[in-house]
Amino acid sequence: MESPLLRVADYQHVVFFTGAGVSAESGVPTYRGRGGIWKHYDYERYASQPAFERNPEEVWRFHNVRRERVAKCLPNAAHRCIAACEAHAEHVSVITQNIDGLHQRAGSNVVHELHGSLWRSRCDDCGYTATEFDAPLRDVRCPHCPAYKRPDIVWFGDALDPAVFEIATQALIRCDLLVSIGTSALVYPAAELPMLARRHGARLVEINPEPTPMSPQFDTCLRTTASAGLDRLLGAFDPS
Ligand code: OAD
Repeated sequence: MESPLLRVADYQHVVFFTGAGVSAESGVPTYRGRGGIWKHYDYERYASQPAFERNPEEVWRFHNVRRERVAKCLPNAAHRCIAACEAHAEHVSVITQNIDGLHQRAGSNVVHELHGSLWRSRCDDCGYTATEFDAPLRDVRCPHCPAYKRPDIVWFGDALDPAVFEIATQALIRCDLLVSIGTSALVYPAAELPMLARRHGARLVEINPEPTPMSPQFDTCLRTTASAGLDRLLGAFDPS
């Protein structure tokens, strides 16, 4: 067996920066590429504030299908490996573009969700917020006012939550190892966040079967799946 490329225990602050590819082995579809969600659904019709204002029921139908599908998926070996690293490095955080909640279900304790969560909703009229693991969510009306709740997701054209962005930025500045897994690095500002870690001296590793526009900036690129890449990097899911 090949020895792992590195030991998380040798690093103080480790950031796992994840995209849809980390959940692909759980059966959650990615957004782009073969079988990608945006190949089948027009995001302007289902994942934007103007679409929600035009037809909230249709937007909720799309998100309810996603809730039902993700609810049936389980965290995979990559999610579990990332969670297990918490026992071996002093500070481990996950900065994810995913909305599926699988890192938390695998046991990761520090997860910054840049693009929100499929499992939260909010009312922009009265400020009501809720976390519901209902799949599908049957009551899409705000319980406190006549408005519709909306999924608490960063849709196309939305700004990132400044508080989440700030805390993610702090983790990136402090980290000495960043492992990017399963993102196409096409959506900004998320795509360029690993470069902040690089500018502050972190070692950068990319795990993705395909090259991305950011690949040349990484110290090490593993062209394989999330679980195989983490196995190669950290060793047989025993990241000690
Ligand atoms: P994408 O669908 O754009 O990219 C998924 C990436 O995962 C690709 O680079 C694939 O090569 C890679 N991949 C596929 N299978 C993999 C596997 N088994 N292991 C590792 N990698 C694999 O997804 P994201 O980059 O996450 O935003 O997309 C970014 C954002 O665009 C999403 O958060 C979403 C989307 O629109 C919102 O919905 C706001």
